[in-house]
Amino acid sequence: MPFTASSVQAAYQPGEEISNSDLYARLEQMVGVGVSAWRDKSEVGKARERCNLLTRKARWHQQTLRSLGLIERVPGKRGVWRLATGKSELTHAAPGVHLVAYSTDLGLALWGCCSSVFPRIDEPIALVLTSPPYPLRKARAYGGPGESSYTDFICSALEPLVKNLLPGGSIALNVSNDCFVTGSPARSTYIEKLTLALEERLSLSLMDRIVWQNPSKPPGPMQWASKSRQQLCVGYEPVLWFTNDPKACFADNRRVLQPHSDRQKRLIAQGGESRSADYGDGAYKLRPGSYGRPTEGRIPRNVLQIGHASQEVVRARRVAQEAGLPTHGAMMPLRLAMFLIQFLTQPGQLVADLFAGWNTTGLAAELTERRWMTTERVAEYAAGSGSRFESAVGFHTSFDLVAGKYCAPPNPDTISMLNQQTTF
Ligand SMILES: C[S@@+](CC[C@H](N)C(=O)[O-])C[C@H]1O[C@@H](n2cnc3c(N)ncnc32)[C@H](O)[C@@H]1O
Repeated sequence: MPFTASSVQAAYQPGEEISNSDLYARLEQMVGVGVSAWRDKSEVGKARERCNLLTRKARWHQQTLRSLGLIERVPGKRGVWRLATGKSELTHAAPGVHLVAYSTDLGLALWGCCSSVFPRIDEPIALVLTSPPYPLRKARAYGGPGESSYTDFICSALEPLVKNLLPGGSIALNVSNDCFVTGSPARSTYIEKLTLALEERLSLSLMDRIVWQNPSKPPGPMQWASKSRQQLCVGYEPVLWFTNDPKACFADNRRVLQPHSDRQKRLIAQGGESRSADYGDGAYKLRPGSYGRPTEGRIPRNVLQIGHASQEVVRARRVAQEAGLPTHGAMMPLRLAMFLIQFLTQPGQLVADLFAGWNTTGLAAELTERRWMTTERVAEYAAGSGSRFESAVGFHTSFDLVAGKYCAPPNPDTISMLNQQTTF
């Protein structure tokens, strides 16, 4: 199967340094061609040099990704690459600074640190949907807390939003299951610690750990699945779903019903089961007529299989790259955000995301007719995500990306002055 530059980009995971032989092994698993195809050599070019066409193509894509600033060589290590750290390119909002990046009739995207915005807001929130920075040993380009301070960081960032959460509102956190104890194939238990802290410190109740099964995840972790072989390849991320009032929770699965299978449709048409049976020591019983009642649709299971591929994101990335902006490397799929928003809120309610990145939460809220408010502290991401909203009603942006221009934010003194005039 052919592979693209995106496949090569997906093979690089945050915090990993990957040799070219590891890259080929990973691509081999991702694209499903046999081992021999990576070894066979053919003659190429006028010089009839013998080389493998797949490894040649992978290295060619590597150079494309390097020129886009997405991956970089690891200094001092021959043939070893990693995701570009790009730290110097990103403009973090100074403490206390927040500006409107763009807005629509339904929502407001702010450039600024969440802790300088949400403590000043008293608008009732129905849902906080976010993927916080992961607790990485080697942080991503946009930075993030280490594991020891992670629980405190998330609890203090969420506290002002939880104060404004309507009774029955939800907090949905898309976190990573793939954090490992240093030098060990054992997984970190930070999710368990975070869950207990949110219950104990913020009086939230855990409703579920919804599984987002992602078939597009690249095979890994390289060290523990491909090299030592002690782990299976990763395939999912949990969404921790909490509420402040379980009985009053706004969740309603009738807003996210899925079509019945053909088999179920046939069963309904024939008036249900025609046999009698007992399963699970009598816990489940089938009777003539069981499952024959017509219903509006199938209640989804709490395992959501959603891939990452999206034409909408490909277009937004192109706009950002043409404007000289970095793209975001850790986005939530739009379909996942739309599902959670429809399930957990009613149209018109307010959805917030304090760690917005490329503002998938805002876009999903916009498309499902909820109001939204988001904060992102990196100016380049706040600007780049604006192109995803161009067709939204009332769209107004402070960054002119449509004309392919991106102006760096004003200097901190100007921003402080503007900031004093910003009202919510
Ligand atoms: C995992 S990404 C979110 C991706 C997002 N869900 C999307 O689909 O694009 C986390 C984001 O939080 C931002 N961030 C980290 N700390 C922040 C803070 N204190 N205030 C606002 N944004 C922050 C980072 O810059 C990063 O873009």
